[in-house]
Amino acid sequence: MPQVTVFDHPLMQHKISFLRDVNTGSKQFRELTGEIAALMGFEALRDLPLEEVEITTPIATAKVRRLAGRKIVLVPVLRAGLGMVGGLLSLVPSARVGHIGLYRDDETLEPHAYYCKLPAHMEDRQILVLDPMLATGGSAAAAVDFIKAHGGRKIKFLSIIAAPEGLERLRTAHPDIDIFCGCLDERLNEAGYIVPGLGDAGDRIFGTK
Ligand code: PRP
Ligand code: URA
Repeated sequence: MPQVTVFDHPLMQHKISFLRDVNTGSKQFRELTGEIAALMGFEALRDLPLEEVEITTPIATAKVRRLAGRKIVLVPVLRAGLGMVGGLLSLVPSARVGHIGLYRDDETLEPHAYYCKLPAHMEDRQILVLDPMLATGGSAAAAVDFIKAHGGRKIKFLSIIAAPEGLERLRTAHPDIDIFCGCLDERLNEAGYIVPGLGDAGDRIFGTK
């Protein structure tokens, strides 16, 4: 049964509080985004399949468990999702990384696609879609559309801050995926920004404003 997980861990709350702060500069913002992504990934990957293998320790032979199946795929939604990739790769260094390029029209708030490159064999892989902001949910739903069109089935969506409107839209469009949010905020404002949110995640990560 697909689930929505909103993190209540104190470390998550602490780190997100600095992410929100207007006085946090790009260097610290990037570092925090990676750390939060790793904390989220640790929980999101708790049901990865394992297989038993036999190894030899310096003392004896032992049956141990290792990750089974094809490599995981991380799919950051450009640009801001790129900020989460390093944190996830610190957990799963051999993961494949696909990219989906979407930008949100300032007026209509609808997503526009400009890039999509995904690994082969998407149908067999655990896929984590990464985007720190789930606002109207248009970008998230479109990213998952692309992944499904490429055969992806085992999909989890990780966002650091979500608005109720975006969560609802993503759940309605894709009721079969698990969604992980670091924090669920109050609402969207008239410009489509999350309140209280953290502003424009891409600009804060890349220092473009
Ligand atoms: C931001 C964010 C999400 C999107 C969320 O990207 O990273 O992708 O907005 O908004 P939505 O839920 O209303 O679709 P943006 O379009 O600003 O592009 P950028 O990361 O390249 O700045
Ligand atoms: N995209 C962002 O980066 N921030 C918001 O608050 C909404 C969309």
